[in-house]
Amino acid sequence: MKYNPNPDRYKDTQYNRSGNSGLLLPPVSLGLWHNFGHVDDFEAGRETLLTAFDRGIIHFDLANNYGPPPGSAEENFGKILKNDLAPYRDELIISTKAGYLMWDGPYGEWGSRKYLLASLDQSLKRMGLEYVDIFYSHRFDPDTPLEETMGALAHAVKQGKAIYAGISNYDPDSTARAAEILQSLGTPCVIHQARYSMLDRWVEKGLLNTLEEKGIGCIAFSPLAQGLLTNKYLKDIPETSRAASPYGFLQKSAITPKLVEVLNKLNNLAAERGQSLAQMALSWVLKDPRVTSVLIGARNKEQLLDSMKCMENTGFSGEELNLIDEYLSGL
Ligand SMILES: NC(=O)c1ccc[n+]([C@@H]2O[C@H](COP(=O)([O-])OP(=O)(O)OC[C@H]3O[C@@H](n4cnc5c(N)ncnc54)[C@H](OP(=O)(O)O)[C@@H]3O)[C@@H](O)[C@H]2O)c1
Repeated sequence: MKYNPNPDRYKDTQYNRSGNSGLLLPPVSLGLWHNFGHVDDFEAGRETLLTAFDRGIIHFDLANNYGPPPGSAEENFGKILKNDLAPYRDELIISTKAGYLMWDGPYGEWGSRKYLLASLDQSLKRMGLEYVDIFYSHRFDPDTPLEETMGALAHAVKQGKAIYAGISNYDPDSTARAAEILQSLGTPCVIHQARYSMLDRWVEKGLLNTLEEKGIGCIAFSPLAQGLLTNKYLKDIPETSRAASPYGFLQKSAITPKLVEVLNKLNNLAAERGQSLAQMALSWVLKDPRVTSVLIGARNKEQLLDSMKCMENTGFSGEELNLIDEYLSGL
Protein backbone atom coordinates (compact mmCIF):
# COMPACT_ATOMS: atom_id res chain seq x y z
CA MET A 1 0.00 0.00 0.00
CA LYS A 2 1.30 3.45 -0.90
CA TYR A 3 2.69 5.27 2.12
CA ASN A 4 1.38 8.76 2.74
CA PRO A 5 3.19 10.35 5.66
CA ASN A 6 1.39 12.29 8.33
CA PRO A 7 1.30 15.92 7.14
CA ASP A 8 1.51 17.12 10.78
CA ARG A 9 4.68 15.16 11.53
CA TYR A 10 6.71 18.22 12.48
CA LYS A 11 4.08 19.88 14.63
CA ASP A 12 4.99 18.50 18.04
CA THR A 13 8.73 17.81 17.86
CA GLN A 14 11.45 20.23 18.94
CA TYR A 15 14.81 19.36 17.36
CA ASN A 16 18.05 19.56 19.32
CA ARG A 17 21.30 20.96 17.95
CA SER A 18 24.20 18.53 17.98
CA GLY A 19 27.02 20.44 19.68
CA ASN A 20 27.94 23.58 17.73
CA SER A 21 26.95 22.14 14.37
CA GLY A 22 24.05 22.60 11.98
CA LEU A 23 22.93 19.02 12.61
CA LEU A 24 19.50 18.97 14.27
CA LEU A 25 18.19 15.73 15.73
CA PRO A 26 14.90 14.67 17.30
CA PRO A 27 15.16 14.02 21.06
CA VAL A 28 14.34 10.37 20.27
CA SER A 29 16.05 8.63 17.33
CA LEU A 30 15.55 5.09 16.07
CA GLY A 31 18.34 2.54 15.70
CA LEU A 32 18.24 -0.56 13.50
CA TRP A 33 20.76 -2.75 15.32
CA HIS A 34 18.06 -5.27 16.22
CA ASN A 35 14.65 -6.05 14.71
CA PHE A 36 15.55 -5.10 11.12
CA GLY A 37 17.70 -8.02 9.94
CA HIS A 38 16.72 -10.78 7.55
CA VAL A 39 15.90 -12.95 10.58
CA ASP A 40 13.25 -10.43 11.68
CA ASP A 41 9.70 -9.63 10.59
CA PHE A 42 10.17 -7.13 7.74
CA GLU A 43 6.62 -5.74 7.92
CA ALA A 44 6.89 -5.08 11.67
CA GLY A 45 10.17 -3.22 11.08
CA ARG A 46 8.67 -1.21 8.23
CA GLU A 47 5.65 -0.28 10.33
CA THR A 48 7.87 0.82 13.23
CA LEU A 49 10.03 2.95 10.98
CA LEU A 50 7.14 4.65 9.20
CA THR A 51 5.36 5.24 12.51
CA ALA A 52 8.52 6.97 13.69
CA PHE A 53 8.73 9.16 10.60
CA ASP A 54 5.05 10.04 10.95
CA ARG A 55 5.86 11.47 14.38
CA GLY A 56 8.88 13.54 13.45
CA ILE A 57 11.60 10.98 14.12
CA ILE A 58 13.77 11.78 11.14
CA HIS A 59 16.96 10.10 12.32
CA PHE A 60 17.63 6.43 11.60
CA ASP A 61 20.89 4.87 12.72
CA LEU A 62 22.57 1.90 11.06
CA ALA A 63 25.99 0.25 10.85
CA ASN A 64 27.60 -2.01 8.28
CA ASN A 65 27.24 -5.07 10.54
CA TYR A 66 23.62 -4.68 11.74
CA GLY A 67 21.42 -7.69 11.02
CA PRO A 68 21.75 -10.61 11.39
CA PRO A 69 23.17 -11.49 8.98
CA PRO A 70 25.56 -8.49 8.90
CA GLY A 71 24.50 -6.01 6.25
CA SER A 72 20.87 -7.11 6.19
CA ALA A 73 19.54 -4.18 8.25
CA GLU A 74 20.99 -1.82 5.64
CA GLU A 75 19.43 -3.92 2.88
CA ASN A 76 16.01 -3.88 4.54
CA PHE A 77 16.30 -0.19 5.26
CA GLY A 78 17.20 0.36 1.60
CA LYS A 79 13.96 -1.39 0.59
CA ILE A 80 11.86 0.78 2.88
CA LEU A 81 13.65 3.85 1.63
CA LYS A 82 13.07 2.94 -2.00
CA ASN A 83 9.43 1.95 -1.64
CA ASP A 84 8.20 4.40 0.99
CA LEU A 85 10.60 7.15 1.96
CA ALA A 86 12.44 8.06 -1.25
CA PRO A 87 10.47 11.31 -1.78
CA TYR A 88 11.49 12.42 1.73
CA ARG A 89 15.25 11.72 1.49
CA ASP A 90 16.16 15.34 2.16
CA GLU A 91 14.17 15.29 5.42
CA LEU A 92 16.06 12.27 6.76
CA ILE A 93 19.26 11.95 8.76
CA ILE A 94 20.65 8.49 8.00
CA SER A 95 23.81 7.33 9.69
CA THR A 96 26.06 4.35 9.28
CA LYS A 97 29.33 3.19 10.81
CA ALA A 98 32.35 1.01 10.27
CA GLY A 99 34.66 -0.40 12.92
CA TYR A 100 33.53 -3.90 13.90
CA LEU A 101 34.09 -7.14 12.01
CA MET A 102 32.41 -7.12 8.63
CA TRP A 103 34.46 -9.26 6.26
CA ASP A 104 37.43 -11.63 6.28
CA GLY A 105 41.06 -10.58 6.20
CA PRO A 106 43.02 -7.70 7.74
CA TYR A 107 40.82 -5.00 6.16
CA GLY A 108 37.45 -6.27 7.42
CA GLU A 109 37.38 -4.32 10.71
CA TRP A 110 38.95 -1.57 12.89
CA GLY A 111 40.05 1.83 11.60
CA SER A 112 42.24 1.72 8.49
CA ARG A 113 41.51 4.11 5.66
CA LYS A 114 41.00 1.14 3.33
CA TYR A 115 38.41 -0.54 5.58
CA LEU A 116 36.44 2.62 6.36
CA LEU A 117 36.16 3.83 2.78
CA ALA A 118 35.45 0.38 1.32
CA SER A 119 32.84 -0.24 4.01
CA LEU A 120 31.10 3.07 3.34
CA ASP A 121 30.86 2.19 -0.36
CA GLN A 122 29.32 -1.17 0.56
CA SER A 123 26.83 0.48 2.93
CA LEU A 124 25.75 3.00 0.30
CA LYS A 125 25.19 0.18 -2.17
CA ARG A 126 23.13 -1.88 0.29
CA MET A 127 20.93 1.10 1.15
CA GLY A 128 20.73 2.40 -2.42
CA LEU A 129 22.00 5.81 -1.31
CA GLU A 130 24.39 8.32 -2.83
CA TYR A 131 25.40 9.63 0.58
CA VAL A 132 24.75 9.12 4.28
CA ASP A 133 24.22 12.04 6.62
CA ILE A 134 26.61 10.84 9.33
CA PHE A 135 29.49 8.43 8.89
CA TYR A 136 31.00 7.15 12.13
CA SER A 137 34.18 5.45 13.14
CA HIS A 138 32.42 2.78 15.23
CA ARG A 139 35.31 2.22 17.64
CA PHE A 140 38.77 3.52 18.42
CA ASP A 141 41.55 1.49 16.77
CA PRO A 142 44.62 1.37 19.04
CA ASP A 143 46.87 0.15 16.20
CA THR A 144 46.05 2.55 13.36
CA PRO A 145 47.19 6.18 13.63
CA LEU A 146 44.21 8.28 14.60
CA GLU A 147 45.22 10.69 11.81
CA GLU A 148 44.52 7.91 9.29
CA THR A 149 41.10 7.00 10.71
CA MET A 150 40.01 10.63 10.98
CA GLY A 151 41.51 11.32 7.55
CA ALA A 152 39.23 8.63 6.12
CA LEU A 153 36.15 10.24 7.70
CA ALA A 154 37.16 13.65 6.38
CA HIS A 155 37.78 12.14 2.94
CA ALA A 156 34.30 10.59 2.91
CA VAL A 157 32.82 14.01 3.68
CA LYS A 158 34.94 15.73 1.00
CA GLN A 159 33.86 13.08 -1.52
CA GLY A 160 30.24 13.89 -0.74
CA LYS A 161 29.56 10.33 0.46
CA ALA A 162 28.86 11.62 3.98
CA ILE A 163 27.57 14.98 5.13
CA TYR A 164 28.99 14.84 8.67
CA ALA A 165 31.67 12.89 10.54
CA GLY A 166 31.14 11.24 13.92
CA ILE A 167 32.83 8.86 16.33
CA SER A 168 31.49 6.18 18.61
CA ASN A 169 32.79 4.47 21.74
CA TYR A 170 35.92 6.67 21.99
CA ASP A 171 37.25 7.48 25.48
CA PRO A 172 37.56 11.16 26.47
CA ASP A 173 41.25 11.55 25.52
CA SER A 174 40.87 9.89 22.11
CA THR A 175 37.73 11.94 21.56
CA ALA A 176 39.60 15.18 22.18
CA ARG A 177 42.43 14.12 19.86
CA ALA A 178 39.99 12.97 17.15
CA ALA A 179 38.14 16.28 17.38
CA GLU A 180 41.38 18.25 16.97
CA ILE A 181 42.46 16.21 13.94
CA LEU A 182 39.06 16.51 12.27
CA GLN A 183 39.01 20.23 12.97
CA SER A 184 42.43 20.62 11.34
CA LEU A 185 41.10 18.79 8.28
CA GLY A 186 38.16 21.20 7.99
CA THR A 187 35.59 18.49 8.83
CA PRO A 188 34.55 18.95 12.44
CA CYS A 189 33.40 16.04 14.55
CA VAL A 190 29.74 16.86 15.12
CA ILE A 191 28.56 13.90 17.19
CA HIS A 192 29.68 11.13 19.51
CA GLN A 193 27.57 7.99 19.83
CA ALA A 194 28.06 6.59 23.31
CA ARG A 195 26.33 4.01 25.48
CA TYR A 196 24.46 5.80 28.26
CA SER A 197 21.67 4.67 30.53
CA MET A 198 20.84 4.53 34.22
CA LEU A 199 22.67 1.20 34.24
CA ASP A 200 25.79 2.43 32.45
CA ARG A 201 26.94 5.92 33.43
CA TRP A 202 30.55 5.88 32.18
CA VAL A 203 30.02 9.03 30.05
CA GLU A 204 29.50 11.05 33.24
CA LYS A 205 33.14 10.40 34.16
CA GLY A 206 34.69 12.81 31.64
CA LEU A 207 33.25 12.16 28.19
CA LEU A 208 30.27 14.52 28.47
CA ASN A 209 32.59 17.32 29.69
CA THR A 210 34.96 16.72 26.78
CA LEU A 211 32.07 16.81 24.31
CA GLU A 212 30.81 20.07 25.75
CA GLU A 213 34.28 21.64 25.61
CA LYS A 214 34.74 20.58 21.99
CA GLY A 215 31.23 21.54 20.87
CA ILE A 216 30.30 17.97 19.97
CA GLY A 217 26.81 16.51 20.46
CA CYS A 218 26.08 13.23 22.21
CA ILE A 219 23.61 10.62 21.00
CA ALA A 220 23.06 8.07 23.76
CA PHE A 221 22.69 4.49 22.57
CA SER A 222 21.00 1.62 24.42
CA PRO A 223 19.33 4.13 26.77
CA LEU A 224 17.01 1.33 27.91
CA ALA A 225 20.00 -0.95 28.53
CA GLN A 226 18.71 -3.18 25.72
CA GLY A 227 15.29 -3.44 27.32
CA LEU A 228 16.31 -4.00 30.95
CA LEU A 229 14.98 -0.55 31.86
CA THR A 230 11.42 -1.38 30.79
CA ASN A 231 8.55 -3.32 32.27
CA LYS A 232 9.75 -6.50 30.50
CA TYR A 233 11.85 -8.16 33.15
CA LEU A 234 10.05 -7.11 36.34
CA LYS A 235 8.84 -10.65 37.06
CA ASP A 236 10.48 -13.07 34.66
CA ILE A 237 12.11 -13.31 31.24
CA PRO A 238 9.38 -13.25 28.60
CA GLU A 239 9.78 -15.53 25.58
CA THR A 240 9.52 -12.58 23.22
CA SER A 241 12.44 -10.56 24.49
CA ARG A 242 16.02 -9.82 23.57
CA ALA A 243 17.29 -11.75 26.60
CA ALA A 244 15.49 -14.89 25.41
CA SER A 245 16.51 -14.44 21.77
CA PRO A 246 19.29 -16.53 20.22
CA TYR A 247 20.57 -13.36 18.49
CA GLY A 248 22.25 -10.43 20.14
CA PHE A 249 24.23 -9.69 23.26
CA LEU A 250 21.79 -9.46 26.15
CA GLN A 251 22.36 -12.53 28.28
CA LYS A 252 19.80 -14.04 30.63
CA SER A 253 22.55 -14.07 33.25
CA ALA A 254 22.48 -10.24 33.29
CA ILE A 255 19.03 -10.39 34.88
CA THR A 256 20.00 -11.06 38.49
CA PRO A 257 17.58 -11.01 41.46
CA LYS A 258 19.34 -7.85 42.71
CA LEU A 259 18.78 -6.11 39.36
CA VAL A 260 15.12 -7.16 39.27
CA GLU A 261 14.66 -5.70 42.76
CA VAL A 262 16.12 -2.36 41.64
CA LEU A 263 14.09 -2.36 38.42
CA ASN A 264 10.91 -2.84 40.44
CA LYS A 265 11.79 0.11 42.69
CA LEU A 266 12.49 2.26 39.62
CA ASN A 267 9.23 1.08 38.07
CA ASN A 268 7.29 2.21 41.16
CA LEU A 269 8.93 5.62 41.00
CA ALA A 270 8.11 5.88 37.28
CA ALA A 271 4.45 5.09 38.07
CA GLU A 272 4.42 7.91 40.65
CA ARG A 273 5.64 10.23 37.89
CA GLY A 274 2.88 8.97 35.58
CA GLN A 275 5.42 7.24 33.33
CA SER A 276 6.33 3.74 32.24
CA LEU A 277 9.79 2.62 33.35
CA ALA A 278 10.98 2.95 29.73
CA GLN A 279 9.71 6.52 29.56
CA MET A 280 11.37 7.48 32.85
CA ALA A 281 14.67 5.86 31.83
CA LEU A 282 14.69 7.87 28.59
CA SER A 283 13.61 11.13 30.28
CA TRP A 284 16.43 10.62 32.76
CA VAL A 285 19.06 10.49 29.97
CA LEU A 286 17.48 13.44 28.16
CA LYS A 287 17.50 15.66 31.26
CA ASP A 288 21.19 16.43 30.58
CA PRO A 289 21.36 19.26 28.00
CA ARG A 290 24.61 17.81 26.67
CA VAL A 291 22.61 14.83 25.34
CA THR A 292 21.28 15.66 21.88
CA SER A 293 19.17 12.55 21.37
CA VAL A 294 18.43 9.14 22.86
CA LEU A 295 18.93 6.38 20.32
CA ILE A 296 16.38 3.69 21.05
CA GLY A 297 15.54 0.31 19.61
CA ALA A 298 11.97 -0.94 19.20
CA ARG A 299 10.61 -4.38 18.36
CA ASN A 300 7.30 -2.94 17.17
CA LYS A 301 5.39 0.31 16.86
CA GLU A 302 3.73 -0.10 20.28
CA GLN A 303 7.13 -0.01 22.00
CA LEU A 304 8.16 2.97 19.92
CA LEU A 305 5.01 4.92 20.79
CA ASP A 306 5.38 4.08 24.48
CA SER A 307 9.02 5.17 24.53
CA MET A 308 8.38 8.39 22.61
CA LYS A 309 6.14 9.67 25.40
CA CYS A 310 9.34 10.26 27.41
CA MET A 311 9.50 13.66 25.74
CA GLU A 312 6.43 14.79 27.68
CA ASN A 313 8.18 14.83 31.06
CA THR A 314 11.95 15.29 31.18
CA GLY A 315 12.02 17.26 34.45
CA PHE A 316 13.05 15.55 37.70
CA SER A 317 12.87 16.86 41.24
CA GLY A 318 16.03 16.69 43.37
CA GLU A 319 14.27 14.14 45.52
CA GLU A 320 13.51 11.89 42.53
CA LEU A 321 17.12 12.09 41.32
CA ASN A 322 18.40 11.21 44.78
CA LEU A 323 16.07 8.24 44.98
CA ILE A 324 17.22 6.98 41.57
CA ASP A 325 20.87 7.29 42.64
CA GLU A 326 20.08 5.49 45.89
CA TYR A 327 18.35 2.59 44.07
CA LEU A 328 21.15 2.30 41.51
CA SER A 329 23.83 2.32 44.19
CA GLY A 330 22.41 -1.02 45.33
CA LEU A 331 23.76 -2.69 42.19
N1 LIG B 1 27.60 2.64 18.52
C1 LIG B 1 27.47 1.45 19.05
O1 LIG B 1 28.47 0.76 19.35
C2 LIG B 1 26.10 0.92 19.32
C3 LIG B 1 25.91 -0.24 20.10
C4 LIG B 1 24.62 -0.66 20.36
C5 LIG B 1 23.53 0.06 19.84
N2 LIG B 1 23.75 1.15 19.06
C6 LIG B 1 22.62 1.91 18.46
O2 LIG B 1 21.64 2.17 19.43
C7 LIG B 1 20.38 1.67 18.99
C8 LIG B 1 19.54 1.28 20.16
O3 LIG B 1 20.16 0.24 20.90
P1 LIG B 1 19.28 -0.79 21.70
O4 LIG B 1 18.36 -1.47 20.75
O5 LIG B 1 20.19 -1.58 22.57
O6 LIG B 1 18.41 0.27 22.57
P2 LIG B 1 17.45 0.17 23.81
O7 LIG B 1 16.43 1.23 23.52
O8 LIG B 1 18.25 0.25 25.05
O9 LIG B 1 16.78 -1.28 23.76
C9 LIG B 1 15.79 -1.58 22.81
C10 LIG B 1 15.01 -2.80 23.25
O10 LIG B 1 14.28 -2.51 24.45
C11 LIG B 1 12.98 -3.09 24.40
N3 LIG B 1 12.02 -1.97 24.40
C12 LIG B 1 12.12 -0.81 23.72
N4 LIG B 1 11.11 0.02 24.03
C13 LIG B 1 10.34 -0.63 24.93
C14 LIG B 1 9.15 -0.29 25.62
N5 LIG B 1 8.61 0.90 25.46
N6 LIG B 1 8.63 -1.20 26.47
C15 LIG B 1 9.21 -2.42 26.64
N7 LIG B 1 10.34 -2.80 26.01
C16 LIG B 1 10.90 -1.91 25.16
C17 LIG B 1 12.93 -3.91 23.14
O11 LIG B 1 13.45 -5.18 23.48
P3 LIG B 1 12.76 -6.58 23.15
O12 LIG B 1 13.37 -6.95 21.85
O13 LIG B 1 13.20 -7.43 24.30
O14 LIG B 1 11.29 -6.38 23.06
C18 LIG B 1 13.91 -3.17 22.25
O15 LIG B 1 14.41 -3.95 21.20
C19 LIG B 1 20.77 0.53 18.05
O16 LIG B 1 19.72 0.17 17.17
C20 LIG B 1 21.93 1.13 17.35
O17 LIG B 1 21.47 2.03 16.35
C21 LIG B 1 25.00 1.59 18.81
